[in-house]
Amino acid sequence: MISISNEQLRLTKNLVIGFYQEDRTGHDWDHIMRVKNLALKIAEIEGVNNLHLIEMLSYLHDVGDNKLHSSEQKANHFLQQTIEKIGFSEREMEYILLQVKSVSYRNRGIYNGNDESKIVADADRLDAIGAIGIARAFTYGGAKSQKLHSRKNNDDTVISHFYDKLLNLKDEMHTKTAYKIALERHRFLEIFTDQFLNEWNGKK
Ligand code: ADP
Ligand code: NI
Repeated sequence: MISISNEQLRLTKNLVIGFYQEDRTGHDWDHIMRVKNLALKIAEIEGVNNLHLIEMLSYLHDVGDNKLHSSEQKANHFLQQTIEKIGFSEREMEYILLQVKSVSYRNRGIYNGNDESKIVADADRLDAIGAIGIARAFTYGGAKSQKLHSRKNNDDTVISHFYDKLLNLKDEMHTKTAYKIALERHRFLEIFTDQFLNEWNGKK
C-alpha cells in the first residue's frame, strides 16, 4: 500500500489547479472537487481507507486526458511530468501512473485498478450522469460546437452522447454504493431524454 503525505497532497493540488481552472469542457476544478468529495463519501461507506490515495487520484485523474491536450503524446507527457514533481520513488511513480490510467472510462478493462481507483472511477462516472452530468454534456457540446440533436443516427450530437455513453454508465459502477446513487441519477437522465425527444418531435 502506498503512503501519501499531506505535503504531497498539497503539492499535487498546487500543481494541477491552474490546469483545470481554465477548462470549459466539463473538466474544471469544480468537477475535480465533486469527484473527490463523492469518492471520499463512497470510500467511507465501502470501508476503503487509503483516503490520501483517493484524494491524489481525484486531483490527477483528468490531467492526462487526450481531450484536454493537442495530442495523446502531450497528454501522457504532462501526466508523467506532474507525477515526477510530487516526490515519489520510481516504484511509487509507476504505481500511481497505472492507478490514474485505470480511472479513465476509455481504459476500462485495460488497466487493473485497486479499490481506491475504482471508487474514484465510480465518482467520476456519477458526475457524468444526473442533473450535473446533463449540464456537463451540454457545456462540452457548446465548447465543441456540437448540435443538440439530429434525426440522423450517425451525427455526433450531445443527445447521441447520451446513448453512446451516459445511459450506459449505471451498469459500469464498481461499487454497490455508487450503483445505488447511479440508479437515481440514471432515472433523471431517462426522464430528461424522454421529455427532450418528445419536445423535439412535437409531441409535448
Ligand atoms: P470524465 O471527466 O467523466 O472522464 P469525459 O472526459 O468523458 O468525462 O467527459 C467530460 C464531460 O464531457 C462529461 O460530462 C461527458 O459526458 C461530456 N462529454 C464527453 N464527450 C462528449 C460528447 N461527445 N458530447 C457531449 N458531451 C461529452
Ligand atoms: Ni473526470
